[in-house]
Amino acid sequence: MDNQSDAKQIDIKIGNRSASCPILEGNEGHCVLDIKKIAQELDIFTLDEGLRSTAFCKSKITFIDGEKGILLHRGYPIDQLVSKRNYTEICYLLMHGEIPDPEQTKSFNLNLKQHQYLAPQLEKLFLSMPDNTHPMTMLMSSTCALASCNRTSSTSPDLQLAAMELISNMPILAAMCYRRSVNKSFIAPNPELSYSENFLYMMFGDNPSYQANPTLTKAIDHIFTLHADHEQNASTATVRLAGSTGTNPYSSIAAGIAALAGPAHGGANEAALHMLEEIGSVEQIDTYLEKAKDSNDPFRLMGFGHRVYKNYDPRAKVMHKTCHDVLDTIGEADSNPLFKIASALEKIAAEDEYFVSRKLYPNIDFYSGITLNAIGIPTNMFTVIFALSRTVGWVSHLIEMNNDPDQGLIRPRQLYIGNTQRNDK
Ligand code: MLT
Repeated sequence: MDNQSDAKQIDIKIGNRSASCPILEGNEGHCVLDIKKIAQELDIFTLDEGLRSTAFCKSKITFIDGEKGILLHRGYPIDQLVSKRNYTEICYLLMHGEIPDPEQTKSFNLNLKQHQYLAPQLEKLFLSMPDNTHPMTMLMSSTCALASCNRTSSTSPDLQLAAMELISNMPILAAMCYRRSVNKSFIAPNPELSYSENFLYMMFGDNPSYQANPTLTKAIDHIFTLHADHEQNASTATVRLAGSTGTNPYSSIAAGIAALAGPAHGGANEAALHMLEEIGSVEQIDTYLEKAKDSNDPFRLMGFGHRVYKNYDPRAKVMHKTCHDVLDTIGEADSNPLFKIASALEKIAAEDEYFVSRKLYPNIDFYSGITLNAIGIPTNMFTVIFALSRTVGWVSHLIEMNNDPDQGLIRPRQLYIGNTQRNDK
């Protein structure tokens, strides 16, 4: 094999056959080797289990530098977006590529409100589900059902329209998941309220003591924004894969919700909260850190480390502050036991050679569970809220994929390691 990176290509020779693979440069981050010629010229496939080193597609939406702990949406750093913009502006940015001006924001929000609709068929669907149905299962089913309850009920609906319907309806469905799981009647959306206020209202608005609280509304808006997109994570890759078959966008998003439900993906914030509860007190941290280091012990440190980040997850920094603001508002900044354990754990791990050498830093899940918990969101709703937030990322990737002439059906190959051909005697 002849490495000619100066010539921006790698030539691979096997016997008298050769393939020249161009090295493509992105605008940020890693270069990629375009390997198509290896299969075309040499009849050899490439193997990369888990796609750990494979660029799955070309994208302009989100960039992550895992080594430096950088996350950019359409070029803008996540901390700037959270402090200056709200979630629906981020939705516009992810979908359209630019921060909306005031007129664009107004018409985008109006458009979202026009799609808000609590369809009677959906109420029936939720009520028909068994009492112990997990909210993520409810969300998956109702997202598929949205295809036939709303205006884009054709088999190949207009993608932009479906995207707006999905973003607009996700808080309604998410709140219905919660209300159904606690056997309470559904609350219709209030068009006077902002996206994030409306979500909290549809969750808790019938409680006589409920009053919109600006800090809690801002916190939920931050949570939505921080989870809005994260390049080719497992659920987004699933949405792209499903979408590449031409299935309707609601089904593609439902496929994404299914992928997100797993504990190795969206379920991690729930696991992080349970871990903090299990640790139980600051005094127990050392014991649990030793357990985490012991490969024979089943205990795992949740909310630490990330497949891509080998540095502090930039979302976790924002989440830490938001968490503190929420606790301050509800009078628990100095007393919340889980926050105390999390802060102490983070500090101790940051000075421990084992975690430092393995680049295990807190990720977004570490503080998001405590924040949601403090807002009054039950644990089984955490991943539903992640799905609500991520819907815009998923639809933006579907739109981008649909506009990419190079992107057809996604159909990977394999290295076959089963029996060779044999006869059934
Ligand atoms: C996400 O936000 O999707 C998670 O951090 C997981 C990932 O990026 O792989």
